[in-house]
Amino acid sequence: MTAGTAAGAARGFDTVLVVDFGAQYAQLIARRVRECAVYSEIVPSSITAGEVAARRPSGVILSGGPASVHVDGAPSLDPEIYGLGVPVLGICYGAQLIAEQLGGTVGPNERGEYGRAEMTVARDGGGTLLSGLPACQPVWMSHFDAIVDPPPGAAVTASTAASPVAAFEDPGRGLYGVQFHPEVQHTPHGLQVIERFLRRGCGAGPSWSMDSIIDASTASVREQVGEGRAICGLSGGVDSAVAAALVHRAIGDQLKCVLVDTGLLRLGEADQVEETFARHVGIDLVRVDAATEFFSALAGVTEPETKRKIVGEQFIRAFERARHQVPDAGFLVQGTLYPDVIESGATTHSSTIKSHHNVGGLPDDLDFELVEPLRLLFKDEVRAVGAELGLPDEIVHRQPFPGPGLAVRIIGEVTPSAAGTLRQADAIVREELRNAGLEREIWQSFAVLPDIRTVGVMGDERTYGRPVVIRAVTSADAMTADWARLPHDVLEAMSSRVIAEVPGVNRVVYDITSKPPATIEWE
Ligand code: XMP
Repeated sequence: MTAGTAAGAARGFDTVLVVDFGAQYAQLIARRVRECAVYSEIVPSSITAGEVAARRPSGVILSGGPASVHVDGAPSLDPEIYGLGVPVLGICYGAQLIAEQLGGTVGPNERGEYGRAEMTVARDGGGTLLSGLPACQPVWMSHFDAIVDPPPGAAVTASTAASPVAAFEDPGRGLYGVQFHPEVQHTPHGLQVIERFLRRGCGAGPSWSMDSIIDASTASVREQVGEGRAICGLSGGVDSAVAAALVHRAIGDQLKCVLVDTGLLRLGEADQVEETFARHVGIDLVRVDAATEFFSALAGVTEPETKRKIVGEQFIRAFERARHQVPDAGFLVQGTLYPDVIESGATTHSSTIKSHHNVGGLPDDLDFELVEPLRLLFKDEVRAVGAELGLPDEIVHRQPFPGPGLAVRIIGEVTPSAAGTLRQADAIVREELRNAGLEREIWQSFAVLPDIRTVGVMGDERTYGRPVVIRAVTSADAMTADWARLPHDVLEAMSSRVIAEVPGVNRVVYDITSKPPATIEWE
């Protein structure tokens, strides 16, 4: 199996490289850059000047990070990058690194600076990044060390009580540093600072728009697939739906979609997906009933990663069975997103967190080349592309659903009866959320079936049944999430209906853990 050339989709766009000194910060910066309509990509801090030059970026942004520049083994940057003539903006740790590497000084603060701070812009002007913005403005700080002197030749453009050098710049050399975090919402003018760096500092115009993404992706898919034929598995989630619609736009009838009814989809989902795709997109779709095969392959298996691998493998086997209808299909379309790619450790140092079945868990003997048209996109961009392609709201704004389906929400052995129980409970949770008008503001809401028994009493009878966990989270991109503060009466309605309507369940609990430290799914 070979992966498609994802970077091809971004060819021709002004690109800003975000050097990753701390994954959380880097992703947020990359998203903000794209909000300014400039394509961004995250690269590891080990990137060399030669590798940067080869990408011909319009600019480079060094992210914040948890380390101190003075700690042994603190991540650094190939200093030759500063000599490439590519503008560089350092944020927090990144700004300290520029100062440290180019002859300034960074010292420990007496007590660090965390949270909101009032920043004063230099009286003789805020330079490229800050002029025209309020002379006094709140910014978000999170650092222990602080820049004492900027690199020789750079002007200090702002300060706070605890940071004499809250911002510096040397536009002649294309060097910019901010000690605060412009990427977070708590810095109200932060996006303007990033936009100024992009437009004024790098000369990068707005080019990354939904139209241009669609054009570039369809061109890249056409180039990859040529006269070949592709198949795409629709999982019921928004990602595979948008991937299919995009590839359909590119190659039309050369694409055939396969809807595998795994037995692990949500209630009524297979019918709904089939109906919507036939009606709205006019995609050629074949439905395969593979529940029996999935359940027998999963019998007796309890280890989460093994379950994922089995589901991934069964998907492929089901495709292969469907393939006689497209005997010459050489390409498999997958709705892999940029955060999946990052989490799988494919682009950065970040360690593998789990094998997303659409990235890491496919069997090696697969005889397809992968087409991954969403590989460079964040979720909000995927939804925007879906809407632009004319997909209906019920698909574009549907909550994400994991490829392995209910298998990741049944802890322990995945049996038809467990799937039946969970499907019923899940339908109630989602229906009550919809009734409360909260579906759009909640990132994901679903039921989980843990592998334990609990004692209860129903009528005069003692019961020994299973609990159901309700999980509802708010999130912008699934990288971090918070548990949703659902109104108590909504939780009450979910709980009493699950107990009354789902046989074998005698207790309902609500998960109040954020991500991190937990994940969204239970596995
Ligand atoms: P976690 O549980 O890692 O989930 O916090 C993050 C987001 O990813 C979804 N998810 C998946 N999506 N294939 C997918 O397409 C998968 O294997 C998979 N596993 C988790 C999860 O629902 C959440 O939105």
